[in-house]
Amino acid sequence: MIRLDRLLATLAIGSRTEVGAMIRKGRVTVDGAAVRDPGAQTAETAAITLDGALLDTRLQRHVMLYKPAGVLTAACDKKLPTVMNLLPPVYTAIGCMPVGRLDKDTTGLLLLTTDGELNHRLLAPGRHVDKVYLATVDAPLSAQHVKAFAAGLDLGDFTAAPALLDIAADDPCKARVTVHEGKFHQVKRMFEAVNRTVQTLHRERFGPLTLDAALGPGQWRELTEDELAALRGAVR
Ligand code: URA
Repeated sequence: MIRLDRLLATLAIGSRTEVGAMIRKGRVTVDGAAVRDPGAQTAETAAITLDGALLDTRLQRHVMLYKPAGVLTAACDKKLPTVMNLLPPVYTAIGCMPVGRLDKDTTGLLLLTTDGELNHRLLAPGRHVDKVYLATVDAPLSAQHVKAFAAGLDLGDFTAAPALLDIAADDPCKARVTVHEGKFHQVKRMFEAVNRTVQTLHRERFGPLTLDAALGPGQWRELTEDELAALRGAVR
């Protein structure tokens, strides 16, 4: 149970004072009845309307976003757009947070969730959640590079765990890379270690989830029940 005014404020309907005024005016109904007490205890699962329109009161949400280039993976930034600006404000209000980060110029699958525990587990080094990236680099890749990735690359401050490098049949400057770590600039640094510079980087998969082909850059959707179960299953 949660106070009605607190629930509506958490859902970014308005400030606590504003939603209090809406409630007192009788603009809000809970399970079909007008409620004029802002402090009324309300179930999070109740059907709540404002001016006759049913509100989406879910406080737990999980999102798949096609991150476009040029956008920061951050909760907020004074100058640059962030991934949170691509979602309606309610997602920020309820604490939906990116799972890890993609560089500003990296595109592709970014998950966001209100579940802090799930977020933490998906990023924990011991969990070995695979991430698959499509990379283009500045010069052709060869079997030597495949071997070097498979052996684990020394990146100076740490040794990257063995990774799978799968060179595209039609273009030796393109490859799929599967890693299960998520260190800062990891994939770019792995290519630097074998004298290649990443020109584009796109994440196709995170654990059991693949970026929905129906999404374009900047578009998002909520995870299905099955996707969420698969994600939870991957880190159980
Ligand atoms: N590795 C990188 O170097 N950058 C990313 O954005 C993700 C993985």
